[in-house]
Amino acid sequence: MGRIAEDCGVAAICLHARTVAQAYSGRADWEAISQLVQAVDIPVLGNGDIWEAEDAIAMIEQTGCAGVEVGRGCLGRPWLFRDLAAAIGGQDQTVLPSLGEVCQIVRRHAELLARLWGEDHGMKDLRKHMAWYFKGFPVGGELRHTLGMVGSLAELDLLLAQLDPQIPYPVGELGRPRGRQGSPRKKVTMPWGWLEDRCGLELDLSEAEVDTSGG
Ligand SMILES: Cc1cc2nc3c(=O)[nH]c(=O)nc-3n(C[C@H](O)[C@H](O)[C@H](O)COP(=O)(O)O)c2cc1C
Repeated sequence: MGRIAEDCGVAAICLHARTVAQAYSGRADWEAISQLVQAVDIPVLGNGDIWEAEDAIAMIEQTGCAGVEVGRGCLGRPWLFRDLAAAIGGQDQTVLPSLGEVCQIVRRHAELLARLWGEDHGMKDLRKHMAWYFKGFPVGGELRHTLGMVGSLAELDLLLAQLDPQIPYPVGELGRPRGRQGSPRKKVTMPWGWLEDRCGLELDLSEAEVDTSGG
């Protein structure tokens, strides 16, 4: 498939090295990324199980990929990209924001979502990010629950003000999976007729991702 993509003129390929049956479970097979790097001349970006900047460096070293794509590792940790930029530039840096700094980032995230979609819709979208942002911090069950139901910027401010800004980053969370994990799929559903004749089909795949996106 990589060679077909190259022949079609695509500029680069990103490979998520899990099978459909694995879904988000188990580990990505970085060897598959190496094989794709060997098979094509265009840049290959590797994806799967990058939780920290050092994972990105390890993937680049092990597979020879030109760059990486981050999935779940940045959920509630947008500062991971600063660590990645530093590591790829040869520096060792792990950003460890205090709870107060995380609150400032949450506030900024909320403002941007409100600007993009309006306050009501924006706050609904923000709710799912709360569990990721505060993962590992001693926030308390009730406040955590209320943050996950936030309805306005004003309410968000009141909730964030209840947190102790001095609390340090929970370093035990570093390197640990976050976001969806789950179990392998028992049944993989392919487009109708796909396994019988992969070449002769005229498939309309224009909306194929709509129902299956990781989001
Ligand atoms: C919130 C979220 C949204 C995603 N959306 C898409 C998507 O729209 N299309 C897609 O092909 N993959 C999507 N993915 C999958 C990721 O691109 C990535 O392949 C997957 O999370 C595995 O990488 P990871 O182990 O670093 O998480 C999404 C993943 C997450 C966590």
